[in-house]
This record gives sequence, structure tokens and C-alpha cells, in this order.
Amino acid sequence: MFSRVVSAWLQVQVPGVPEHRITNIFKPLATPAASERTAAYLVLAITAVIFVVVAGLIVYTMVRFRRRPGESALQEPPQVYGSNQIEAAWTVIPILIVFVLIGVSARVIAAIQNASPPAQTLKVQLVGHQWWWEVRYPDYNLVTANEIHVPVSPDGRRATYLQLTSADVIHSFWLPQLAGKTDLIPNRINYTWIDPREPGVYVGNCAEYCGTQHANMLLRVIAQPQPEFLAWITEQQKPAREDPQAGDAKAVFSSLSCVSCHMIRGTSAVGKFGPDLTHLMSRQTLAAGVLPNTRENLRAWVNDPQQPKPGCFMPSMKLTGPQLNQVVSYLESLQ
Ligand code: CUA
Repeated sequence: MFSRVVSAWLQVQVPGVPEHRITNIFKPLATPAASERTAAYLVLAITAVIFVVVAGLIVYTMVRFRRRPGESALQEPPQVYGSNQIEAAWTVIPILIVFVLIGVSARVIAAIQNASPPAQTLKVQLVGHQWWWEVRYPDYNLVTANEIHVPVSPDGRRATYLQLTSADVIHSFWLPQLAGKTDLIPNRINYTWIDPREPGVYVGNCAEYCGTQHANMLLRVIAQPQPEFLAWITEQQKPAREDPQAGDAKAVFSSLSCVSCHMIRGTSAVGKFGPDLTHLMSRQTLAAGVLPNTRENLRAWVNDPQQPKPGCFMPSMKLTGPQLNQVVSYLESLQ
């Protein structure tokens, strides 16, 4: 009952995401998130007892020592000063509670951050940027953005092991149903891991304030059966598709300064500041989860990124109508 009420309250509906993959820490679908939920329940139970005891004593005192008819408002009740027993109790009990909470938290954190990866582990490097996620698969030599494809792990044996770092400021990885929160800190590598039990799209958020577009730094984990996952890897490893139809469009794109910030493998676009666009159209969203990846949104985004995501580092290129059409057609060819 309690968990249902809190769940309903915490449910964040994200456009285009099936309802059962909403961000909800009370419906964990991976080992780290499940152990975090256990810790959360323990903390809630302890704090609930403290709340009931303190609020109960206040209510008891208000009723027991209220002014009765005929008593003067000026007449003070008998005052009691000092009690060694009570003072000792309210010093020692909170200290014990704090130690229990520290112990439980330390155990959960150690289990998540020091877990030695099982044999079939997939390694993923996640680099936080203002305001998007760079996703690297070092064993497959490929780079993508904002979506982490991983194999589903129904028996917990196909875990994905994540190395987290940042290119600029501190960000925080948080996928409420899988694991969290773990900071992405410049010049440091943190670790966490996930083993999604069910296939689906899991939505998460940057959980450390990192500038104006912090709230628009969404991350998706797409958990797939192993064969589908491997098929995705094979597709992503290919260089950008050469569409003969897109020849002119590609020439226009290559003449613009887009190429100094974005990488499109196999072309002259070799920038590293922005997301890799090699297989842009295979992704579900644009701008780190801000817009569903449709033709209209792509056009609006390229035309002026400051409209949907004010303050982001992609400038409006002030393209002419024909240029914009060409750039959008070229990007659309990047399947
Ligand atoms: Cu990145 Cu907040």
C-alpha cells in the first residue's frame, strides 16, 4: 500500500516510453537497484518509527498538559530541569541509529561499486558532457550518444559494467530502476553496473546539477535479448552509410562547420566536441532525450537548437532554407 502510494507519486511519464518503464525506484529491475530499494525501505522504516515517536510525544504532551477549565493562563505548570537518564538516552540512541544507517549504506555501496564483473560482462564507458552522454564500447570500438544498448540479463549473468567519467563538470548517473546514483567526475573513473532483468527502455536522468540544461540531460538504457544486442553492435560498427542520393546533401553538410564538432565515421566529419552522428537515425531521441527523433524535430533542432534547449552548446548555424533541407536530408540518411 505504502509503496504503491509513493510509486504513484514518483512516477514520471516520459513521452514515447511504455508505462512500465517509468522512472521508479520502488520497481527495481536490476540487482543494484534492488539492493538500494532494500536499503531505502530500512531507512524509511527507521525514520518512520522516529517520526511516530516524536509526533506521538508531542501530541501526548499537548493533551496531557493542556489548560483545564478554571486554570489561569498565567499559572505555569511545574517545571522539571535536567535528567541524566533522558539526556544519555537521546545522545546514545541517535548515535546507534546513525551507525546502523552508515553500515547499511556502506554495504550497499560496496556491493555496487566494487563488484567484480562476471565473465560475460559488457564494458561501457560513459562520459558526461554538458548536456549529453557519450557512450563508448571499448571492446567493439564504437561510440554513440545518450542511449546505452545492453543485453538483457534475466538470470543476472549478463551484467554491464560501467566506467563513469566527465569531460567538463560533475554529472551523476541515475537510472532509478537499474542503479544509481554514481557521480561522473572529471579526471576520475567511478564504477557501477547494471543487469536489467526485462527487455525494454529504461529512462534515467543526470542527478547532479551541472548547469542550465541539467534537467534536459536524459539517458536511456535499451535492454535487448543477446542476439538483438549483437545485431545492433554489428550495425553500429559499420561506417556511415553512403547514400548516392545524398551526395549533394553530404557536400553541403561537409562544407559547414558541423564537421568540426561532430564525428561521422568514414567521412571528413571528425569533430569530438559534440555527439557522434554516424548512426544518428537509429536513436530514439534528439538532444539527450529532449525531442523524439522525427524529421520535423530534427529540422527544428538543426535550425535553432536554442529553441528546444536554451543554453546548449550547439549554436544556430543560421542556415538558409535550401541549406537546412540538404543538411536534414543528409542527417536522415545516417541510419
Ligand atoms: Cu549533467 Cu546534471
